[in-house]
Amino acid sequence: MDEITQDKCRELRGMLAQAGYAVFFGGAGVSTDSGLVDFRSQKRGLYNRPSEYSASPEEMLTPKFYEENPEEFFDFYRTKLLNLAAPPNSVHYALAEMERAGVIKCVITQNADNLHQRAGSENVIDIHGNVYINTCEGCGRRFPPEAVADCPGVPRCGVCGGVIRPGILLFGEVPDMKLAMAAIREINRSDLLIAGGTSLKVSSAPRLLDRYRGKLVIINDEPTPYDSRADLVINAGISEVFARIWP
Ligand code: APR
Ligand code: ZN
Repeated sequence: MDEITQDKCRELRGMLAQAGYAVFFGGAGVSTDSGLVDFRSQKRGLYNRPSEYSASPEEMLTPKFYEENPEEFFDFYRTKLLNLAAPPNSVHYALAEMERAGVIKCVITQNADNLHQRAGSENVIDIHGNVYINTCEGCGRRFPPEAVADCPGVPRCGVCGGVIRPGILLFGEVPDMKLAMAAIREINRSDLLIAGGTSLKVSSAPRLLDRYRGKLVIINDEPTPYDSRADLVINAGISEVFARIWP
């Protein structure tokens, strides 16, 4: 890590020590070191790769495609997004320790991978859903992720035969209002917001950040549209940064 980035990590340590209510807002870049994909990075983003399906990933992750092409949707979901074997990484564990130490009060994540919870974080708001919440569209029964991961084709409820819908937010769907309001409350209560591993290009970002007036720190290995508004921007690998800011 170069000298300038090291200095910035020292600065972030100081900001964390001063903060009264620090909140973390994360995205796919938090889980890439666990082997999961991100969506928009130049080098490896899922949306920047040629699609071997009949539509682009952004078109496939829509309610219309899900309704009209369930077989292909579930094949894409299982092949590209769902990876139950992926373990929490050092950033997930550091955030959980920081929560126990009272340094981080809440983790708001756009990821649906449940890795923050598996690492031990308790106050987690999954604003884009969670792959551990799978619901039968016929009778409302809940199913574990294996009911979707381990079955070929379209997963169906053994009781009523309804399709088991993974609990992830698709493009164009309205987020869970309870979760969105909870996230906005946490952010507006915070005096230090760390946005990590997210391109901040999706509607959740403006919805959550636009009324935020506290200190903003961005940790991302590529520029984001919010960099000019941030008090500190650290363009580096998020695991390397967390290794220097905690413990
Ligand atoms: N360290 C730092 N930054 C990283 C790392 C890493 N190890 N790995 C990836 N990144 C960066 C990428 O360069 C990218 O800028 O993380 C960012 C992730 O941005 P996106 O791929 O756009 O993911 P995200 O911001 O979470 O997308 C939000 O969009 O596709 C929808 O619902 C989906 O939740 C997702 C939402
Ligand atoms: Zn059912």
